[in-house]
Amino acid sequence: MDKRINVAVLVSGGGTNLQALIDFEKDGKLTSGKIVKVISSKEGAFAIERAKNAGIDWAVVQRKGKSQEEFEKGILDELTLCKADVIVLAGFMCILSKDFTDKYKDRILNVHPSLIPSFCGEGFYGLKVHEAALGYGVKVTGATVHFVNEIPDGGKIIMQKAVEILDGDTPEVLQKRVMEQAEWKILPASLEKVCLSLLKGE
Ligand code: GAR
Repeated sequence: MDKRINVAVLVSGGGTNLQALIDFEKDGKLTSGKIVKVISSKEGAFAIERAKNAGIDWAVVQRKGKSQEEFEKGILDELTLCKADVIVLAGFMCILSKDFTDKYKDRILNVHPSLIPSFCGEGFYGLKVHEAALGYGVKVTGATVHFVNEIPDGGKIIMQKAVEILDGDTPEVLQKRVMEQAEWKILPASLEKVCLSLLKGE
């Protein structure tokens, strides 16, 4: 019997973090989890192509044109269908309600491109986070993987990794460095850690 934890990955965009998770699993390093579905909040997101290429089941639940309740119901239906035990938000640009996060307490992981509690919370997503870090003039930034609760970027921290800011950095250059040096490493490692502790019943 396959005893691995079923993992669903929620995405909205390019999906490089999803790719890092797929590669980690392909390399045999996700020993306690199995990616069973990719759910995109946006039609046409490149992340869907990554799921297709990896042979992973996928679905689109559009955020646009729906109430929060309808949107979350759509996602919950997909999660039930694929029997997801753990959810990873990998570049998922939508906020989830307390109703939703309470259903998966300590089972939703998010990757955020800064060292929380800096440059996080509502309005801080994607390139905006790096613009804010450069604008403030910090010399070190990084990425954080944390559990998701009803407070945007406010759940318990699982892993963090620092990344240096260099003279002449643009938001785009910094985003790439933070992804390469931090996000793509700590997101898969955190997923394995959480799945392993669930399997052990911790
Ligand atoms: C990543 O940098 C991720 O940390 C960030 O958006 C990017 C998505 O890239 N997420 C947030 O800002 C969430 N608050 P990806 O689609 O290539 O993984």
